[in-house]
Parts: sequence; C-alpha cells; structure tokens
Amino acid sequence: MARVFSGIQPSGELHIGNYLGAVQRWVALQSQYQCFICIVDYHAITQDYDVSMLETRTLDMATSLLAAGIDPERTVLFVQSHVLEHTELAWVFTSVTPIGELERMTQFKDKSQRQESVLAGLLSYPVLQAADVLLYKADTVPVGEDQVQHVELMREIARKWNARYGDGFFPEPQALVGEAKRIVGLDGQAKMSKSLGNTIGLLDQPEVIWQRLRPAMTDPARVTRNDPGTPEICNIYHLHQHFSPKKTVEEVAHKCRTAGWGCLDCKRVLADNIANAFKPIRQRAAELKKRPEQVREILAAGAAKAREVAQETMRGVRERMGLLPARTEAVVDR
Ligand code: AMP
Ligand code: TRP
Repeated sequence: MARVFSGIQPSGELHIGNYLGAVQRWVALQSQYQCFICIVDYHAITQDYDVSMLETRTLDMATSLLAAGIDPERTVLFVQSHVLEHTELAWVFTSVTPIGELERMTQFKDKSQRQESVLAGLLSYPVLQAADVLLYKADTVPVGEDQVQHVELMREIARKWNARYGDGFFPEPQALVGEAKRIVGLDGQAKMSKSLGNTIGLLDQPEVIWQRLRPAMTDPARVTRNDPGTPEICNIYHLHQHFSPKKTVEEVAHKCRTAGWGCLDCKRVLADNIANAFKPIRQRAAELKKRPEQVREILAAGAAKAREVAQETMRGVRERMGLLPARTEAVVDR
C-alpha cells in the first residue's frame, strides 16, 4: 500500500486554510493509503514561540485533527518529538544538503527577513522536514502550495543520500497539491495563516465566524452598496466556492456584478454556510476536549507505531553509512 506522510505545526487550531489546503485531503486519503500524520513541534521551535503554550497547542491540534476526521484506527497520528529518529535522520541529512539550496527556499527568505538574527534551525527547517517524510519512506506528501518547494528539496536530499550511500534506499516523494492550494486570509492579500491573524478557525462558534467575516476585505470597487463588483477578484467569492452550493455561488456572482446584494449580505450567507459545514467537527471537538487523556493515549499509540518504522529505517541508514553498530539498541519508551 502506498504510504502518505504529512505534517502540521502545533499552532493550536485548524483554520480554513490548512483545513481545505491539507487536512481535508488527509481525511479522504485514509481509505486508500497508509497515512502518517505528524504534529511537528520541533519545527515550531525554529521561530519565537510561547513556551508555556506549546504543550496545550500541541494537544489542541491533535484534538482538532481527530475532530476533523483523522481516524487513529487507520492513520498513525503522532507528535514529532516523541519519535527521536526524526532529529537523528535530520542530522544525517545536513551532511548531504548544500547550504545554497537551503538559502534559496522562499519560506526561509520570507521568515528570515523578519528577523534580526537568523537561527540555524530556521535554515535547516527543510532538512528536518525531509527526515520526517523519508524516515517512513513515504511516496506521497499532501500539502498546500507553499510546501511544494520543500518537497522538491527532500527529493534532492533523497537522491544525494542514495547516490552516496545506498542506491534506491529512499524513494523520492511526490507532493500532492489539491484544488485549494492557497487559501487567502481575511485581509484578502496574504495566505491564511495563524501567525498573520487573518484566519477563521475551524472550531469558531457561528457568532465568532460572523464577527471575523464582517470586516473582511472585499472588492475595493464596492465603496457603497450600489457599486457593482467583480466576484473573481473578491476573496469572499472564492470562499463561497468552497462552502456554498453551486446555485448559491452563481447567485453570489450575479448579485455582486449587479449590486443586487451588498457585501454584508454576501458575507452573511457565507458565514452561515461555514458555520454549518463545521458543525459536526465542532461537536466532536467539544466531546474530545472533555477527555484529554484519551487524546494523549492516541498520540502515545501513534508514536509507538511510528517508532517501529523509524527505528527500522535508521538501522538501515547507520549500516549503509558505515557506523559502528551499538551493542544494544537503545530502548526508548516515552
Ligand atoms: P501549517 O498549518 O502552516 O503547519 O500547514 C499545514 C498544511 O496546510 C501544509 O500542507 C500547508 O501547505 C497547508 N496550508 C496552510 N495554510 C494554507 C493556506 N492558507 N492555503 C492552503 N494550504 C495551506
Ligand atoms: N513545513 C510544513 C508546514 O509548515 C509542516 C511539515 C513538517 C510537513 N514536516 C512535514 C509537511 C512533512 C509535509 C511533510 O506546513
């Protein structure tokens, strides 16, 4: 069975962007693939973060993923730092990765620009990401568009390692990018992202969705209610395409062009449709939040399954690289 791996930062909550861009597809892929979904806490520390909140955000992310339909019976759901081999293989990969390739990464350029002192961890971020995927010899990596460059780099890392140490040991993974490859945030400009504060959360209550959507950017040509607009350039219209039935989408386009609706009318319909779409997920999350111990247990079981595969891969890696075998394999049970 082909193997899927993907990761998500422990940012606490799923939002419409990472849900439509990635998580929704992970849920769909579970029936055809063996899936590994990892909450990447060691990636999260490469930028400033709130130490006192990391644990909570990790658990909340797990809760959201389970509520969104990740099924722990079929998918291995786990936390990156619970499987030590991720950082071990990342170290190995730093020795086949040219610095120039890392400096070229768009995400690195964006993030490092915003910082006074650039950390080595931020530069090496895609090396750890390559280790995440290759540790499981996964062939398919469902992600949003922003991660495609990182997946290409992991293909190159696999090729370089294979060429030096063991032909064909690592497969070259393929990015799988869906229709919702880049969901734009409520500012109508940037990618929807928790760090930019332009999100609608998957677990937001209906009234919160409305409050967030109300001031959202629309077609700037619509200054007053009577000004006609161009739906194709409006992010609210694009969101309708993901949440409203075809007939409503057509109606929205028509009412926008003819100024039949004001932007608030259009947003009201969208807010209701988003709230309805996520109602079952909100309910499941509320149930799971009452049982945090169960979520921790699911993560522990996931880590145990992941570790089996990861340890096997690392044995092969060390052997091919000529390292002296340790007399006893370290037994790590966390
Ligand atoms: P993150 O939440 O940034 O860790 O991203 C998790 C996954 O969601 C990655 O595959 C991203 O490419 C995808 N993703 C995040 N934000 C968006 C967005 N605004 N539009 C489409 N995909 C996204
Ligand atoms: N870098 C990804 C993001 O920010 C998260 C991630 C970490 C990931 N490791 C991965 C995605 C492995 C796919 C495969 O969204």
